[in-house]
Amino acid sequence: MNYTFEQYQQSADYIRSKIGAFSPKVAMVLGSGLGYMGDIVEEAVAVPYGEIPHFKASTAPGHKGRLVFGKLEGVPVAVMQGRMHHYEGYSYEEVAYAVRVLKLLGCDTLIVTNAAGCVNTSWKAGDLMLITDQIKIFMESPLRGENLPQFGVRFPDASHLYTPALQDMARKAAGELGIALKEGVYMYFPGPQYETPAEVRFARIAGADAVGMSTAPEVIVAGHCGMQVLGFTLLSNMAAGILDQPLSEEEVLEAAEACKDKFSKLVLSCLKQMG
Ligand code: HPA
Repeated sequence: MNYTFEQYQQSADYIRSKIGAFSPKVAMVLGSGLGYMGDIVEEAVAVPYGEIPHFKASTAPGHKGRLVFGKLEGVPVAVMQGRMHHYEGYSYEEVAYAVRVLKLLGCDTLIVTNAAGCVNTSWKAGDLMLITDQIKIFMESPLRGENLPQFGVRFPDASHLYTPALQDMARKAAGELGIALKEGVYMYFPGPQYETPAEVRFARIAGADAVGMSTAPEVIVAGHCGMQVLGFTLLSNMAAGILDQPLSEEEVLEAAEACKDKFSKLVLSCLKQMG
């Protein structure tokens, strides 16, 4: 199924009826462990996904499932506390639906965060990575189907999905905070099973530094509609096969919890520079 432009507008209109004249500039998709940043938004108005026409629920653990509008570091933001994943049964179009709605509400920048497996063996679990590019070659694009020209062109350029100027901003912020920020390529896998060791070796040969089950669809849609994008990955665990131990959700959530201070400081510092 393809959503129509009118459906995106209906979602935006409903949210508009809740937030009045407030105009968010930066949309944020918070991944595992960072969802709490939605709770520190000032002058917050929260809108549960379930209330918004055409929105899907977020069922992943640690994902609250609501949009929070307000200010962070003085910047008007729209925070997605919880995202949709393909492994939950949603199509890629559904996974990225909210991004277009937030664009209609005035957001021109998207900040994405996630937890992912570390493929680069020079790094370690707990490191933070600035996403410089992504690989999503399996399964269809969120842009598959009729193109909606109100959002962008049929064949969008993807040379700089992650905005170079925002990457510079992140490097500067990390330097000022004394955070050793790694940089690399995020490779998307659909999940929900973690990758096999052979798939992780494949990802490494393909040029990936991290593997994860989110983010790439939303970023494709954001690029299509001309949004600037900044992305961060918390390398919550060494990817499969690197250490002689099984991967678990508990490990991911524990790492996310342990790193949330430095992660949120970095994101907030970037926001401050945007403001
Ligand atoms: N693989 C895929 N997704 C993940 C991982 C991983 O190792 N860790 C956290 N999310």
